[in-house]
Amino acid sequence: MRSVAAWWQTGVIYQIYPRSFQDSNGDGIGDLPGVLARLDYLSGLGIDAIWLSPIYPSPMADFGYDVSDYTGIDPIFGHLADFERLVAEAHRRSLKVILDFVPNHTSDRHPWFLESRRSRTSPKRDWFVWRDPGLDGGPPNNWLSEFGGPAWTFDPTTGQYYYHAYLAAQPDLNWRNADVRAAMHDVMRFWLDRGVDGFRIDTVHHLVEDAAFRGNPPNPAWHPGLPPTLALERRHTIDQPEVHEILAGFRRLADAYDARVLIGEAYLPLDRLMAYYGAELAGVQLPFNFHLIGAVWRAPVLAELIRRYEALLPAGAWPNWVLGNHDRSRVASRLGPAQARAAAMLLLSLRGTPTLYYGDEIGLSDVPIPPERVQDPWGKNVPGFGLGRDPVRTPMPWDGTVNAGFSAGEPWLPLNPDWPTRNIAAQEREPGSMLALYRKLIALRRSEPALSVGDYGAIEAEGSALRYERVAEGARVEICLNLGDEPIELVRPRDATHIVLSTFLDRNGESVAGPLRLRPAEGVVLACARQP
Ligand code: NOJ
Ligand code: CA
Repeated sequence: MRSVAAWWQTGVIYQIYPRSFQDSNGDGIGDLPGVLARLDYLSGLGIDAIWLSPIYPSPMADFGYDVSDYTGIDPIFGHLADFERLVAEAHRRSLKVILDFVPNHTSDRHPWFLESRRSRTSPKRDWFVWRDPGLDGGPPNNWLSEFGGPAWTFDPTTGQYYYHAYLAAQPDLNWRNADVRAAMHDVMRFWLDRGVDGFRIDTVHHLVEDAAFRGNPPNPAWHPGLPPTLALERRHTIDQPEVHEILAGFRRLADAYDARVLIGEAYLPLDRLMAYYGAELAGVQLPFNFHLIGAVWRAPVLAELIRRYEALLPAGAWPNWVLGNHDRSRVASRLGPAQARAAAMLLLSLRGTPTLYYGDEIGLSDVPIPPERVQDPWGKNVPGFGLGRDPVRTPMPWDGTVNAGFSAGEPWLPLNPDWPTRNIAAQEREPGSMLALYRKLIALRRSEPALSVGDYGAIEAEGSALRYERVAEGARVEICLNLGDEPIELVRPRDATHIVLSTFLDRNGESVAGPLRLRPAEGVVLACARQP
């Protein structure tokens, strides 16, 4: 008998980028009262949890991923009372609320860092990573910032450098320091005590660096066509063994509460990622699996990715899949609008928790940003490589009214140029829309245990078709996705009776008697006769 699955196993997570979801006061920036006003939409979509990108006080050098107060709300987004109302109203609708937790670094304006940089003998000096200059008077070693340039910035007041994996405005905390751990545990408790259902933990693989500060070796795969930030292997700056003990500490803390979830953000190869479940699964419950984002969209490639991921999962570990987020090109731009529908079916029919990114449910594409409106520091600091993330963070187009119903004022980033037709209200009226497909897929996943908790079984790939089954307690469904742009014909899937859902939404209920024909980019979920 299967044990009862947790909400974060059966549920669908939806990422909100709060600046871009809904503005309530006309300043062109989304806020918490805006999210509150859209809770009915979210519950109608059928999702189970919202994850909010950071809403804490921040100078916004990295749009909230530079936190200057971990237990407050930035006035741009509202007040603590707005947040408490949001949690209460979300819970009233059976929606969970997951916060972004950013433990790797603070803002350079955080009082802890201001205190730390004051003097070498400051009681908080050791809360951050300070080092003497190298022998040549330059940075202590060759470590590079993810966002361009050296990972060290010189502080003239005390004559030392501080380390920052990201911007100079994002100094890294020193997780070897017990007081840092205690202070950050207090932060987690602050929010868990307010009913938050879990955390998405930012950049967990970056939490600790090599204690001996050894230089990173050159990256043999680097060439001048790649961003200079990739010129070195990150051997001594990411994925250090000490990380796991820190995550286990977070987990012990979260487990003292009921039914909370920890999700870890780490861009790592699959075999390395698995370590983040922790020894005896005492790490994060869901180390984000981003491998669909970069995967070549071909059936044999995806079949092998899923096989490897399933095979590498530690016993008892729960899988998860992500198609997009605020840091990566949108799925509709990566794959095109037709395959984005097949991708939606894939995401919502694989085994493991799916995380959706706001706007993907209406097939939003990356939005071109005119140079004078560029915001993202990554794109500005490392120009020429298309690294800027503004195109994937544009405002949600809600309807055909002024500024797509997002804001009464000028939005902080431009809307998608096709907003008059590509918006939530328009797709709500259109029976074959991407939004209708998402709603049906989410509802099906909820009503069909084979999809939410069933086992995964690969079915041998044929040409451009990706095929697999999901099985739970005698019920079996088969998923066939045509990832090519030609029609295909497949032998009649074993025991298939009828099409439950086609990505085109025009053959639902059609019985399957002979061979199965799929149009280009069409995916279907097939019902199969019950197993004895
Ligand atoms: C990962 C976040 O997703 C990204 O948006 C941010 O810039 C970096 N971590 C630094 O916090
Ligand atoms: Ca606002």
